[in-house]
Amino acid sequence: MNKCIILYYSQHHQNIKKILLQIAESYPDISLVSLTPETFPNFSEYDLIGFASGIYMGKPHSSILNFVDTQQKLLQGKKVFTILTSGSNQKNYGKFFHTFLLNHGCQVLGGYQCKGFDTYGIFKFIGGTAKGHPNNGDISKAVSFIKQII
Ligand SMILES: Cc1cc2nc3c(=O)[nH]c(=O)nc-3n(C[C@H](O)[C@H](O)[C@H](O)COP(=O)(O)O)c2cc1C
Repeated sequence: MNKCIILYYSQHHQNIKKILLQIAESYPDISLVSLTPETFPNFSEYDLIGFASGIYMGKPHSSILNFVDTQQKLLQGKKVFTILTSGSNQKNYGKFFHTFLLNHGCQVLGGYQCKGFDTYGIFKFIGGTAKGHPNNGDISKAVSFIKQII
């Protein structure tokens, strides 16, 4: 098995974290590290890097994008994958992120994305959108994705 680390940002409803905790239960050897604008974990010993984030204003959180920007040299040729949640689950979010990673020299193995409960902006007045997501089905699909990727 590839030595794998998942760098993540999960804040709004901890939707990404719910998925990652289940992945960690199934694959305890995978390291999970929460990224903030000040966190720069050393990933040199890992063969495989996952980037996981909710979508904020159409993109993964800036903590993730800035990390990729600043670590671009060390990420050259690295095998990476993505996990994204968003209220609308638009496929363009994944496409944007994969193009971004490719442009930074990463080797993108694939991505998983699903809906995540969203009460941002106007949605808070109607009790949110994508209620109940990620649900058990979303989470087990994410675990299957990891099984296939590692
Ligand atoms: C400030 C903010 C901006 C957001 N922008 C989008 C967006 O552009 N498109 C979308 O589909 N969801 C958007 N969402 C919803 C989040 O992507 C969704 O709730 C995600 O699952 C959050 O993940 P987390 O709980 O792990 O942080 C936004 C949420 C917040 C708080």
